[in-house]
Amino acid sequence: MNNKKIIMFAWVALLTVLLMGCGGGSPSASTGGDTAVKPRDQVAAEAHTGDAAKGETMYQQACLACHGADAKGVPNLGKDLTASEFVKGNSDTELLAFVKTGRPVSDPNNTTGIDMPPKGGNPALTDEQITDIIAFIRTLEE
Ligand code: HEC
Repeated sequence: MNNKKIIMFAWVALLTVLLMGCGGGSPSASTGGDTAVKPRDQVAAEAHTGDAAKGETMYQQACLACHGADAKGVPNLGKDLTASEFVKGNSDTELLAFVKTGRPVSDPNNTTGIDMPPKGGNPALTDEQITDIIAFIRTLEE
């Protein structure tokens, strides 16, 4: 071996060590990426466009009592959703978040002095079912 070959050999050895070092580092790099991934529910809600037919059935079970069969609102119980600027002005994702929290009388945004309970008082409703309900309400929008 002449000096040139020894130097080359040293470089190859050094590069190998460096590459292995990078290999060891990659799992932590991908963990860093995972933290940016959204929670499953949120992804499902965003990817899901909502099935208005399924939503109609769920609406009848969970919302009709206060918002009425035609979603025009039952006096002293719930608001008209068909002419609601709030419904028109918010995205499906925003409305999903709204329905999950509701709007109690204590909320400064409450407009009627009547509680809108979280999920209309039906805690079993899933994000997907609520997104379906929102799709149904959109079919009634005026
Ligand atoms: C127990 C009665 C009740 C039930 C059940 C109920 N709501 Fe409500 N909801 C209300 C009341 C009262 C308001 C008005 C709150 C306020 O004063 O701002 C309201 C407001 C809303 C609004 C906002 C309308 C606007 O213009 O501000 C949306 C959207 C809505 N409800 C959707 C739903 C959906 C979807 C369901 C079924 C999952 C549901 N609600 C079930 C009582 C109810």
